[in-house]
This record gives sequence, C-alpha cells and structure tokens, in this order.
Amino acid sequence: MNPQRTLKEKTITAEEAVLKIQDGDYVHVYGSSAEPNTFLENIKHLKGQRKDVKLVHFLSLFPYDFYSDESYRGIITTENMFCSRFCIDSQKSGMMTFIPNHLRNSGSDRFFYYRARGKQISIYVASVTPMDGHGYFSTATVGMSNRALVKCADIVMLEINESLPRTFGDSYIHLNEVDYVFRGDNTIRYMPAAEPDEIDLKIGGYVAELVENGATIQLGIGAIPNAVAAALGDKKDLGVHTEMLGDAIVHLYKKGVITNAFKTHCKHKMVTTFSLGGKETYDFLDDNIGVLHLDVAKTNSPYEIAKNHKMVSVNTTLQVDLMGQCASEAIGTLQISGVGGQTDTVLGAKMSPDGKSIIALRTTAEIEAKDGKRRRISKITALHGPGTVISLSRSDVDYIVTEYGIAALRGASLRERAESLIRIAHPDFRDALREEAAKAFLL
Ligand code: COA
Repeated sequence: MNPQRTLKEKTITAEEAVLKIQDGDYVHVYGSSAEPNTFLENIKHLKGQRKDVKLVHFLSLFPYDFYSDESYRGIITTENMFCSRFCIDSQKSGMMTFIPNHLRNSGSDRFFYYRARGKQISIYVASVTPMDGHGYFSTATVGMSNRALVKCADIVMLEINESLPRTFGDSYIHLNEVDYVFRGDNTIRYMPAAEPDEIDLKIGGYVAELVENGATIQLGIGAIPNAVAAALGDKKDLGVHTEMLGDAIVHLYKKGVITNAFKTHCKHKMVTTFSLGGKETYDFLDDNIGVLHLDVAKTNSPYEIAKNHKMVSVNTTLQVDLMGQCASEAIGTLQISGVGGQTDTVLGAKMSPDGKSIIALRTTAEIEAKDGKRRRISKITALHGPGTVISLSRSDVDYIVTEYGIAALRGASLRERAESLIRIAHPDFRDALREEAAKAFLL
C-alpha cells in the first residue's frame, strides 16, 4: 500500500463529507479542542437536502448555528453527552437534548442503545493531525471512545487539522480504517484555565492539606480545580491519573511537582482521556510520550483508578445538601454540564488504598431571580428542590471543602454530616440552615 496515494483516493471536500450523511443518520463527533470545526460549519449544506439527522456531541466549545437557528428544526437535532453553557437555550427550545451518562460508560451505553434498537452508528467524524509516514493519524486531545467508534461506525471520516498535537495511547486511527478524509481550516479552540480569586485560593489551600506527597491526583473541570493546582506547588512527587488534562496539571508538571515517580499504575506516565486548555498545554502534549490519552473505559473505570495508591480526586459541584448529596451537573432539569467522570473518579479514589475524594465548592453563588435581579444564594442547602438531578450520592462522598474549611463525611451519621456542613457554610446562611435541618430531622 502506498499511503500517500490511498490518502489522495480517499480525499473529498468538507461539503462532500457532510453530504455523506443520510436521512435519519446518527453522527458522532467529539468536542473540546479536537472538534471537527469545518465539518460542523458545513452542516448548513444539509438544509433542504436531509432530514431527521441526530448529532451525538460532547463538550462543544462553540455555539454552532444548528444549536439555536430554527431553520435547522427537523433537519438536525443535537444529543449531547456533556453540555456547555450555551446549551441552556437549546434545551429550552428543543434543538438539543441530553444523554445521561457516566463518562466511563459514555461509549458503551450508546452502543447498547443502538444494539437494543437494531440500529447502527452511521458516521464517526474525528478531527486529526496530518497522517504520519506509516499511515496513522492522531486524534490529538481525544482518547474517549475513539477506538470503539472506529470499529462500530458504518462510515469513518477524518478532518485534518494541522494545529493539533500528536499524542499517544488510544488516540490513533489508521488510514485503512478510514472511508473519507477532508481538509479542515486548522482552527483550534482553546480553553485556558480561569484565574483563581482569593476565595478559590482559600479553598485550594484546604484541599492541599488533604493531599499527601506521592499521591496520584485527578483534577476536574471548573475554576476551583485550577486554584487547587496553584495550592499544590509545595508538594512532592505527585502523579496524575485524570479524565481531563488541562493547564493546571501542565503547570504543576513544569514546576517539578508532578513526577509520576511513585504511581502504582502506569508509573512515569500521566494518564487522561481528553485534554482541554490553552496553547501551552497543546504544545506540551505534542509528541509527548509521557502523556497517554487512553480509552475512557480504561481511564474512568473505578477499578483502574483504584490501582493507584493514595488516589485523590478533586471535583466541584453546583449545590450540596446537608446529607452530602451533590447536584453537580444541572440546575433543576436543565443541564449546565454533565456528571462526566465525577462519580467514576470518586468511586475510584474511594476504592484506592489510602485514597480519598474531595468535592470543593464556594459557599455562595450569584443567580438571577425570577424578578430578573441578581441574588446571592447558599450552595450548601438544607434539602435539594424537587426535580434536582443528584450526580453524586451521599454514600459516596468523602470530603466537602469550602473557603470555611473541610467537612469529612465518609462514614459519618446524618446528624454529624449536617453539623459539619453547616460549619463550613457561609456565616450569613448558617442560622437558616440549622433551622431547616432541625425541621427535616437532620439535627
Ligand atoms: N444554583 C443556581 N445556579 C448556580 C449554583 C446554584 N447552586 N451554583 C452555581 N450556579 C451558577 C453560577 O452562578 C454560574 O452561572 P453563570 O455562568 O451565569 O455565572 C454557573 O452556575 C456555573 O457555576 P460555576 O461555579 O461558575 O461553574 P464552574 O465553571 O466552576 O463549573 C461545575 C462547576 C460544577 C458546573 C463543573 O465543575 C462540572 O460540570 N462538574 C461536573 C462534572 C465533573 O465534575 N466531572 C469530573 C471531572 S471533568
């Protein structure tokens, strides 16, 4: 086989690629930074040509027209596995719906769905680096269910993006496995870490108290995990087994805090299933054999995570009640994000010898009330409201950390949970929480 000749034979335009979609097809794409941008921009060519297409998406960083523009109704609907903020309006208008999933099963559950209905995944479109001399493309910042999708999809199409980093692990596709290839516009979307403020740094300081030298860490998505990383600067020989690798981890590595030298699983390597960050992170990942982008079923299996001794997972939540139940992904029934790997990593850390899981959150949030005015609320609530989606059960939570301290919930009674959570709530809300807790027989 002459890879260059075969590549030429398989090359089409982005518009032709979009028109490979047929009525009723299911099209899978991943988001984050390795999103097939050009393909998604060309979805416009489906107008007047196709109907009832389903786009299965994950963490898109860009609000493409078909998320909001009514002229796409009946042509394409998005089914999302992890939402971005702009998805709220699309959920309200019905242009997008959510697929509940734990990240570890996000691929396998979907394959189960198709099998149960006698259907097939129609098309998998991946964004990839240019082909190497051996016929391999790299899916860059995406491990996820890449390999399984390549095996299961009727048609595999690749968008070539010269800006993407070449990575190692399960983030590869060979030319022989591909039906069509097209050139993209080489856009790469960044998501640099948010700058932590004073409150975030206080929280980070408390979390750092719980992290021992030589521990293996997982840092989740959001502003607080980045503040935690800033507070871990004095630690020694940390390892990384995470689902998302971002700027915070890269900075800790460059400082020499992360060495992966004492990991008891995948020693000397950082393990992740996707990456998301700024340019510095993608430059760091390029051709870096020290980072593995593995299949999500491996990175997020609690059994695999637990092979790391002293595993510490750090995630955040939108709201926690006085029993320790965390609502981390939705406000009411509207998805803000997804549970992602929060449950996977919490369970894995719990099963790890000397492991622990930490949920860190600010005590208050500013929200828009029904009258349109901004209002400050307590993120520690006595009871969740009706319809609240519980992402993490009270029996699985270990530590809750706020800017007022640490509540250790593993093994604690309901009374002790309520007392320790009120102690770390914002002082302005403690009396009301105490009153409501007593009414609910929690104190
Ligand atoms: N009630 C109502 N609104 C709330 C709220 C509450 N209790 N808590 C926060 N909000 C609002 C905020 O005001 C903010 O609104 P805005 O965008 O209009 O300002 C929005 O919800 C997001 O809150 P914020 O705290 O800024 O989010 P974040 O970027 O730090 O992310 C999570 C926090 C919880 C959404 C994010 O960590 C997540 O998705 N977690 C679940 C997935 C996970 O942990 N996966 C594992 C690792 S990848």
